[in-house]
Amino acid sequence: MNEKVHVVNHPLLSHKLTILRDKNTSTKDFRELVSEIGMLLTYEATRDLPLTTKEIETPICKMEAPTLKGKKFAVVPILRAGLGLVDGVLRMVPSARVGHLGMYRNEETMEPVQYFCKMPRDVAERDVLIVDPMLATGGSANAAIDIMKGYGCHNIKLMVLVAAPQGIEAIQRSHPDVDIYCGALDEGLNAASYIVPGLGDAGDRIFGTK
Ligand code: PRP
Ligand code: URA
Repeated sequence: MNEKVHVVNHPLLSHKLTILRDKNTSTKDFRELVSEIGMLLTYEATRDLPLTTKEIETPICKMEAPTLKGKKFAVVPILRAGLGLVDGVLRMVPSARVGHLGMYRNEETMEPVQYFCKMPRDVAERDVLIVDPMLATGGSANAAIDIMKGYGCHNIKLMVLVAAPQGIEAIQRSHPDVDIYCGALDEGLNAASYIVPGLGDAGDRIFGTK
């Protein structure tokens, strides 16, 4: 664990995460909370976005005012569950582009299986924010980072709601350059590689498929 790992323990986020973890939370509330927490995490993950200035005129006078510089980043959700976070990111950065990466964990081997990929044409010129609610063994996120580096992307961040220490270690071993933003760092994994205490199967809870 080092300065590349950012556990965002803002009280509002921690409160919302507790409701999210509760097994009695409805699909509707779960989906809304994932989006809201996505927004709060994006606020932290974009703290170092570069600024420039432009001249504007307020009702009082002219001024050189700060404005975001350069191309907006690409947000890359790992499907399915990562889709739940996209709306929150876009509410903070409406001009961000979206690249989709379809991946699921093989339930026996826990290895990620890729089934879809569609990126913005100029993704190599953009910073990338990979989003997924869960970082468990780290297999899916590591594969996603490999793929984005394969596109020529250099500045990659990973944003998750809940992380396990094993997932953090796996990313830091393979991709020590990647900043990781998470809402909570949990105790570990159970025998089925689910995060403990976690929140269960994020995809099933977002989409109501269980
Ligand atoms: C979940 C989750 C991550 C992955 C995390 O997806 O959304 O992508 O597992 O596990 P890992 O760190 O051990 O790779 P899942 O495979 O359940 O697919 P889904 O999003 O389609 O439900
Ligand atoms: N995927 C999930 O959806 N939840 C976990 O706890 C681990 C992987």
